[in-house]
Amino acid sequence: VTFTVEDHDGNRQDIEAPDDMGLSLMEVLKASEYPVLATCGGMALCATCHVEILEGKNGLGEATDIELDQLEALPEYFPSSRLACQIRISELLDGAVIKLRGEDN
Ligand code: FES
Repeated sequence: VTFTVEDHDGNRQDIEAPDDMGLSLMEVLKASEYPVLATCGGMALCATCHVEILEGKNGLGEATDIELDQLEALPEYFPSSRLACQIRISELLDGAVIKLRGEDN
């Protein structure tokens, strides 16, 4: 699948990722040139993998309660904020636009 990542400066770049390896969006970002901190290793505990789904959020479903708890504790979050570690790479991500929102990413 191919999706677009927007960095803090608004620069966008397409990223290709396999959708048959069970990877999370956080893992793919970490391996890309957008290394999210992911301090908790994907346990939905640190929120450093915070992203905002600018386009294509409909296919991704709602954030889980555990995600919402983390997002609501942040100084700033958005209606389409998600934790990248809780999003599985699938064809649903094809064409999505994802903005990095985690600190220091
Ligand atoms: Fe820590 Fe996603 S990696 S919340």
